[in-house]
Amino acid sequence: MMIVFANSKGGVGKSTLAVHCAAWLYDRGFKTALLDADKQRSSSVWMCEVEPQVTVRTANTAEECAVSAQELLRSHDFVIGDAPGGLEDLSRTLLILSDLAIFPISPSILDVRSVLTATDVLRYAQTIRNGLPEGRLVLNKMKTRGRISTQLRDEAPKLGLKVAHNVIRSLEIFCDAPQQGTVVTRLRHKASRAADELNALFNELLGDHLEKYSQTTGGKELHG
Ligand SMILES: Nc1ncnc2c1ncn2[C@@H]1O[C@H](COP(=O)(O)OP(=O)(O)O)[C@@H](O)[C@H]1O
Ligand SMILES: [Mg+2]
Repeated sequence: MMIVFANSKGGVGKSTLAVHCAAWLYDRGFKTALLDADKQRSSSVWMCEVEPQVTVRTANTAEECAVSAQELLRSHDFVIGDAPGGLEDLSRTLLILSDLAIFPISPSILDVRSVLTATDVLRYAQTIRNGLPEGRLVLNKMKTRGRISTQLRDEAPKLGLKVAHNVIRSLEIFCDAPQQGTVVTRLRHKASRAADELNALFNELLGDHLEKYSQTTGGKELHG
């Protein structure tokens, strides 16, 4: 199964959530790969530090993306695509190839506007793929009492994309984890709030898919 993290905006948490998603799946025993299509290479470098057993590939062009994704899908349960900021060729290719498209946004009016473009590109991919990928908006960097965060929570369901019920708050540990070459879900005691939020989010987004996999593979062992 291919999952892509995309958005026309940079800085919304695509790479952060992509690396956490790949590590989360690997830690549940799934054969996982990360395809980094952003020239900044944030997620591929970070992923190699977090877990060398997760296969990491990079892509510079839409063609490379398509070839790598298809090759990785043949030998992995999950391929996580980290798209660049913008919804041009590379992102569109990842979207067309994926089964689940996750669009993180943070509480800013600029991010909210970017969702409208994302929705258009998602519909384009769904027309080509006969309904896939499934799209989800994920509210990231949320502030518990922030005015814009509250507004975003209320308004997000009107943006034309299904909104994940579980949100991720703005927590410093998300900046600390890459500095330590790890993910917050592996910093169990120090980062339990962030880890709880990620567990809730990924269970919500991927729970049904995991079940499908454990049915076909007969269940897998939990790493670590
Ligand atoms: N929930 C969060 N709380 C605090 N900081 C976050 C959170 N998610 C991401 N960040 C930080 O925001 C910045 C941009 O995140 P990144 O994942 O690189 O975004 P993108 O890939 O969309 O450009 C990084 O410094 C990252 O550590
Ligand atoms: Mg990124």
